Amino acid sequence: MSNLLPRHIAIIMDGNGRWSQENHCRHRWDGHRYGINAVRDVIKGAVEKEIETLTLFAFSKENHQRSQAEITALIKLFKECLLKETDQLAENGVKLKFVGDLKGLSTELVVLAREAEFKTRHCTKLKLNLAINYSGRWQITNTLKSIAIGCKEDTFNIDKLDEKTISDLINNDFGTEPDLMIRTGGEFRISNFILWQLAYTELYFDSKLWPDYNKYDLFEAIKNFAKRQRRFGLENAYAQSV
Ligand code: IPE
Ligand code: IPE
Ligand code: MG
Repeated sequence: MSNLLPRHIAIIMDGNGRWSQENHCRHRWDGHRYGINAVRDVIKGAVEKEIETLTLFAFSKENHQRSQAEITALIKLFKECLLKETDQLAENGVKLKFVGDLKGLSTELVVLAREAEFKTRHCTKLKLNLAINYSGRWQITNTLKSIAIGCKEDTFNIDKLDEKTISDLINNDFGTEPDLMIRTGGEFRISNFILWQLAYTELYFDSKLWPDYNKYDLFEAIKNFAKRQRRFGLENAYAQSV
């Protein structure tokens, strides 16, 4: 593997609502359904490029403020996808992991998600993290809570708290920190996606709306990443040891 390839790519899949409008769809959430084609193609592209981990942001905690009709349509779509796509993902070597408060969305979805994780547990080609009902601050809050409980129950010594302990707890869910974060849809913001983990991630913004995005757009972002000079605070480029 080239040392210029990102090992972990995270994507904010944005622009489905605008895509629905531009394409005269009946509902603004019809774009989410078309967005599934982009998800499939990007997963294929990540496997082709031998990316180790792909993290996709599919629904934020804040998206709960949307209309009940849109939320219901999204939960239905997540469930349908899990039922239809899990076997194919397993065949293609994709190991699924859900990150986020799924219980807060639908218990039926939790069951399907855990089944999909179980079915794909031995896959080794690509780790696919799906962030659903997730937000960066929510994850940091949970991490702080678990540390506080550890202190109260005397299973954790506060004097031992350091950045590595926090990183290990947070990365437990995502595996590693992303090397490259892509946002589609033309906005230049993080929208409460992974926060702690983005400390030294390279950022890439694409104006394409998510349903129009495909693996060749992903390859462009990967090509752009290869030209970046990551320094991590040093004077010169950091020599990646991949
Ligand atoms: C992103 O698309 C998907 C979710 C947030 C679930 P949007 O629905 O936010 O699309 P725009 O940004 O309104 O176009
Ligand atoms: C971020 O997009 C969340 C997902 C893509 C899942 P939003 O559309 O919710 O972000 P804002 O509201 O434009 O910041
Ligand atoms: Mg949006």
